[in-house]
Amino acid sequence: MKRVLVVGASRGIGLEFVRQWRAEGWAVTATARSDEGLAEISTLGARALRLDVAGADGAAALAWPIDGEAFDAVVLNAGVYGPRTQGLQAPTQTEFDEVMHTNVLGAMRVLPQVVEVLAPGARLAVISSRMGSVGLRSGTAGWLYRASKAALNSVLKDASLVLQGRAVCVAFHPGWVRTDMGGAGADLDVATSVADMRRTLAGLSAADNGGFFNHDGKPLAW
Ligand SMILES: NC(=O)c1ccc[n+]([C@@H]2O[C@H](COP(=O)([O-])OP(=O)(O)OC[C@H]3O[C@@H](n4cnc5c(N)ncnc54)[C@H](OP(=O)(O)O)[C@@H]3O)[C@@H](O)[C@H]2O)c1
Repeated sequence: MKRVLVVGASRGIGLEFVRQWRAEGWAVTATARSDEGLAEISTLGARALRLDVAGADGAAALAWPIDGEAFDAVVLNAGVYGPRTQGLQAPTQTEFDEVMHTNVLGAMRVLPQVVEVLAPGARLAVISSRMGSVGLRSGTAGWLYRASKAALNSVLKDASLVLQGRAVCVAFHPGWVRTDMGGAGADLDVATSVADMRRTLAGLSAADNGGFFNHDGKPLAW
């Protein structure tokens, strides 16, 4: 049986990963920070672990429950958008810390834990955003979020270098997806976004390690 870990799976894209992998009979371990989120995960027949990636104890809470695992796939999905700015409005310290701690520090604390529990040839994905691309940048909405996803992309690149030959690590843009974050007017339903990312993950080769991909597998500029 294939084994997968989804970090940040209480709702939206993360929970849909759990649903789809469970439907295929995979053994799924998934994290949430609330009782409601843990219940959603358990209801789908997955193992639910409590984790606030921005919490003071960081990923320490994850280390022992996954000790000895060999995951075939890991998805770091937890993320927040932060202030819905359009221009160069300065974030407050609290806003900056919430977004950067969740989207960047969270990944930098979780990744060292998960590199220890990957099966040979495992797929590791961070759910980034096209908004984090510097090369594709044409707007300034949500500049704090953009900065956090650009930093997450940098973190993923380093993970891919450390894991070269052991795993295939990628950053995904999931599309503009109808979730709490994406809103009701977004382009894509969550089931299609996640089905695309799962298909793309399954089709990756060693040469794709360290890449940035659209949900449908199209390479994206950093
Ligand atoms: N939707 C889009 O259009 C879109 C586009 C590009 C990228 N993305 C990225 O896709 C990922 C999922 O987004 P979504 O659309 O599914 O958003 P969402 O519905 O708002 O879900 C966000 C998820 O992240 C979790 N999370 C937030 N802070 C956390 C923390 N400190 N510790 C643990 N979990 C935390 C949330 O848990 P709680 O329920 O506990 O808050 C929730 O499970 C995010 O990284 C987002 O940036 C989304």
